[in-house]
Amino acid sequence: MNTRFLDACWGKPVDRTPVWLMRQAGRYLPDYMRVRSKCTFLELCKTPELAAEVTIQPVDILGVDAAILFSDILTPVEPMGMKLDFVPGPVFEHPIRSMADVEALRIPNPEEDVPYVLEAIKILRRELAAKVPLIGFGGAPFTLACYMVEGKGSKDWANIKKMMYTAPDVYAALMEKVTMMDMEYLNAQIRAGAQAIQIFDTWGGVLSPADYARFVLPYTTKLINGLNRENTPVIHFVKGAGTMLDTVQQAGGDVMGLDWHIDLGKARDILGPKMAVQGNLDPTVLYGSREIIEREVKRVLDENAGRPGHIFNLGHGILPTVPPENAIFMVECVHRLSQK
Ligand code: CP3
Repeated sequence: MNTRFLDACWGKPVDRTPVWLMRQAGRYLPDYMRVRSKCTFLELCKTPELAAEVTIQPVDILGVDAAILFSDILTPVEPMGMKLDFVPGPVFEHPIRSMADVEALRIPNPEEDVPYVLEAIKILRRELAAKVPLIGFGGAPFTLACYMVEGKGSKDWANIKKMMYTAPDVYAALMEKVTMMDMEYLNAQIRAGAQAIQIFDTWGGVLSPADYARFVLPYTTKLINGLNRENTPVIHFVKGAGTMLDTVQQAGGDVMGLDWHIDLGKARDILGPKMAVQGNLDPTVLYGSREIIEREVKRVLDENAGRPGHIFNLGHGILPTVPPENAIFMVECVHRLSQK
């Protein structure tokens, strides 16, 4: 079993830098498209054998040091009572706009309401046993609430921000419920066998640092504190957090996920030696030539300067039009250039 990824999460020294890619299973891989052409995205998420198959594809194709469960951050929101569709972006038929809407939400029982997620984890632990560790994941309460209030993706997230400022009681009640759901859901993933947990706060960076501290930090802190994480490292990824890393760090967790807007070395100086980091290559570098990809991988490794506790990754998800051979080459560069 390759333990480089887990060792790096705990800040232990490793023979070479572990690497995986956010959204490493997906549409840029012809193998994924072959499976996906026979069913919808949600059917794929809800069929454990298929979800396990596409989870393993990038492990074999790219040679990464970790697998991430194939699912979506919105999977556990549907059984809260919100009908979900993907077109291909997520859409909720009835967004949350009032206290009555929040009160109607239920907190799912993961074993009963999303058994397919836990079953996929169990299959994956068997099939990955001699290969790499399995990462489970969930959305941070704020990013989940963004989609629940907006009903779909947005450029400015005006509806949830309006709720924060004009109906703070509704916002707080919603965040409390989503946090409780998340805690149950992620602890169920740990019980089923997930060996690390990543919390995705894709939209946390749309807030000012002061609003992040007031409206997001208390909930993410409560979530992380409520996870059974003695043996399971928690990676906290807040996109756009570069200007408020000290605040985001207060939420806890073992690894800070970094996007590409901050120099990785500067981020490490701010976070201190006790917290590991994950990142942070600009995903569009993978459109570049081999020369460019190698140069940029080397730059990120140089910024880390040999400090223990670095997991190499992109600063956000891989884009669907990236040539797979470029991702394969990137992984190879990380391993070759960081070899001790
Ligand atoms: O990383 C992985 O390989 C595991 C799978 C994974 C998916 N979504 C599969 C997916 C993970 C970890 C996610 C997380 C996710 N989902 C996030 C947080 C990470 C991020 O990228 O910011 C968010 C915000 C979502 C919500 C979501 N799901 C959006 C906005 C979309 C549409 C955008 C797009 O990429 O088309 C999805 C759909 C989705 N989730 C797809 C995949 C492979 C594409 C669906 C398809 O096959 O048609």
